[in-house]
Amino acid sequence: MIALPRLIAHRCGGNRAPENTLAGLHEAARAGCRAVEFDVMLSADGTPVLIHDETLERTTNGVGRVCETPDAVLFSLDAGAGERIPTLAEAAVLCQRYGLLANIEIKPATGHEAATGASVARFVQERWQGLPPLLSSFSAEALQAAWCVAPELQYGLLFEAVPADWQRQCGAIGAVTLHCAAGRVTDALLAEAAAAGVPVLCYTVNEAGAAQALFARGVSSVFSDRIDLLA
Ligand code: G3P
Ligand code: MG
Repeated sequence: MIALPRLIAHRCGGNRAPENTLAGLHEAARAGCRAVEFDVMLSADGTPVLIHDETLERTTNGVGRVCETPDAVLFSLDAGAGERIPTLAEAAVLCQRYGLLANIEIKPATGHEAATGASVARFVQERWQGLPPLLSSFSAEALQAAWCVAPELQYGLLFEAVPADWQRQCGAIGAVTLHCAAGRVTDALLAEAAAAGVPVLCYTVNEAGAAQALFARGVSSVFSDRIDLLA
């Protein structure tokens, strides 16, 4: 079973750097984090890049849809504090250098679910070095496509609220972890997951007391924007 640190830096380095940037990975490593989460989407050229939204406006000085923007434009944008939008390849290098466990959240643009899942899985299969990452997604279609390419990788199922048939869905792709919104996790779910030996990871937890309460109830790890949360 995958060894999970209790704290996972959300969107690379939480609030220490612009989200989903290499600066965030440097910050996470400097703060002693052992695990990071980031979101991955495909550019118009099919390059896996780190970004959360389908559109560029919130996190960059660009406009339009990520999946319709070519690399030449995408990599010229400012993603905050002079940072560029990183490629998955660039993030992989830093995760390996710092020994970070990566939770790669496959975040497909609408209509690109299978292509994104397959592309990320192929990248990890062929090029990832260092600690094996954990791949997750809200998109069952993306995860299914990833699993078809690389059934040997580690997968986590990601939900806001976990559906009753989560164990069947986990079984379909051999998922080893279950991820859900902290406010939606129930003791009944935690009991089911414990009985099945499946760790539950909750997002996004930015209060230390809330994190400790979740751990006491049986949650394994929390995603946090405060990477000093448990210090
Ligand atoms: O993967 C956990 C968490 O990142 C899911 O929500 O919207 O921050 O990607 P979001
Ligand atoms: Mg995410």
